[in-house]
Amino acid sequence: MSKQVQSRRVTVPAIRALKGREKIVCLTAYTAPVAAALDPHVDVLLVGDSLGMVVHGLPTPTAVTLEMMILHGQAVVRGSSHAMVVVDLPFGTFEGSPEQAFAASVRVMKETGCQAVKIEAGEGLAGTIAFLVQRGVPVMGHVGLRPQAVHIDGGFKAKGRNDDERARVIAEARAAEDAGCFAIVLEGVSEELAQEITRIVRVPTIGIGASPHCDGQILVTDDMLGVFEWAPKFVRRYADLRTIITEAVSRYAADVRAGTFPGADEVYRFKSKD
Ligand code: KIV
Repeated sequence: MSKQVQSRRVTVPAIRALKGREKIVCLTAYTAPVAAALDPHVDVLLVGDSLGMVVHGLPTPTAVTLEMMILHGQAVVRGSSHAMVVVDLPFGTFEGSPEQAFAASVRVMKETGCQAVKIEAGEGLAGTIAFLVQRGVPVMGHVGLRPQAVHIDGGFKAKGRNDDERARVIAEARAAEDAGCFAIVLEGVSEELAQEITRIVRVPTIGIGASPHCDGQILVTDDMLGVFEWAPKFVRRYADLRTIITEAVSRYAADVRAGTFPGADEVYRFKSKD
């Protein structure tokens, strides 16, 4: 195999092997320049369907299409060279049948060059996950709070806070592991439940709002960089980009209105040939 075709990216087996050894660092990315900035620091870049809300201003992820995921997936793969890139299968593109899920996964993997897909799947979709894995599609599972179930749940609600729910989320995680997921996102579950699932399953758990006991962590990058006024309780803000943007743009607007931008050094000048 020539050097050019050998992947230098983090691989699926490498992520699995980190369980119990090293914490796995994951963030979402939707564009090439942001992917390039995150790439050296993370193991996994997730092109999450959160892009519907974060980038496109949609109220929920349910309107996100496969085409949107592919467009943003292509940008993230182009902008990165180290991290594993995982792309979410959006609502309505995998639940109909294993064949529908396979067709959607193959499109996503062929058209973006990503290494894996993520599926928000309860127990009922274990057969679909197994169908994909048996055909060469690496699948990251996603259990607990599933944003694509927002209408069934009546909102984005934490899971596993009573015995029934706790048993259901454990069953979902076990089913995802048995079906062949190489890692499982645990979203919005109690600390105790995250700790228990991380102990029970042999594949890495990636937590979001799921305590430090998971094998890795993921956040929506725009949340941790403070792009929005509001962020969920579990988000730690590492920057305040909203304030930085507001200050920069108000200075730009003032300069344009005062006629001081562009300045003498910011214009092209005619160059005579002699
Ligand atoms: O869509 C997304 O960004 C996600 C993460 C929050 C895990 O699923």
